[in-house]
Amino acid sequence: MTASVSLSVSESLGAPIDARISAVGPVIIDCDPGTDDAIALWLALASPEIMVRAITVVGGNVGLSRTLANALAVVALTGASVPVHAGAEKPLRGAFTAAPRVHGEDGLAGVHLPPGGAAAAGQAEAVIRAMLRASPEKLTVVGIGPATNLALALRAAPDLAAKLAGIVLMSGARNGGNVSNMAEFNAWSDPEALDILLRAGCPITLAPLDLTHQALVTPARLSRLRAAGGGKVLAAACDILAALPPHPMLPGRPLHDPCAIGWLLRPDLFTAFPARVSVVCDAHARGKTEIVPAAGVAANALVLETLAADQFFAFLGERISRLP
Ligand code: BDR
Ligand code: CA
Repeated sequence: MTASVSLSVSESLGAPIDARISAVGPVIIDCDPGTDDAIALWLALASPEIMVRAITVVGGNVGLSRTLANALAVVALTGASVPVHAGAEKPLRGAFTAAPRVHGEDGLAGVHLPPGGAAAAGQAEAVIRAMLRASPEKLTVVGIGPATNLALALRAAPDLAAKLAGIVLMSGARNGGNVSNMAEFNAWSDPEALDILLRAGCPITLAPLDLTHQALVTPARLSRLRAAGGGKVLAAACDILAALPPHPMLPGRPLHDPCAIGWLLRPDLFTAFPARVSVVCDAHARGKTEIVPAAGVAANALVLETLAADQFFAFLGERISRLP
């Protein structure tokens, strides 16, 4: 993997980026499919550099029974045999709230996929711990839903942070929000869980809303994506993207979660900066992330800042068209 992020950025966090996040290696993806989660899973499953060891599922965009069924269907459509484990139904504190306005009542914008198989045995948090403990090498975890499963895993065994090559999260926002005027959905859904991860002491990469709002699905990008191949997975991905409701403010629907997977595969398409990231857990500003550029030991995360969006969509098409 080649990282185009400047040396000064990587050095200021204490180690080269390639060493901190071993992208080419075993990965657990924690998700809440979710339209953009589905595309992120397909991008990962189409990419041989990423060995997806397990997919863990959390309630988020829709309730857990739906996100689980969606994850199973998304995997089954590719023919891959990756275990999918059910996780938390609700956040560490407070009530569960879904986002059907964006993702539809079924979580996949009404696009029907053939049902997948059965969930694998084992609860997400326990599976994450067991895999980290058993793995001879460090694992990367990608979190593209509320952080509950990952936080439960690390809260019970904080020492396992040392077994993480890194955590890549789609979460938070530097400015504004999409669920309130100051909070992004994943951070807002379970701020206490995000707080646990931010304090865990392992390398964190954050793909915040400011970054993912550059990955806009425009009509031109969608038609280029459709033209990238003739497989059923690419067709389903394009159908999902075509079915998304228009964004009230942006000239396209943001494709949030694939940015986190894209970072692992093509860091040359991103720029990033080290920062001190924290999250507000109080009711008045629930889920607001504070992202302050910082150097050296003061930084607890690498924050993705810009994306070469046209190249990213071309890459997405090239990869997803490899699937059946
Ligand atoms: C995040 O929230 C969900 O709606 C998306 O799947 C993404 O993970 C964006 O705020
Ligand atoms: Ca998600």
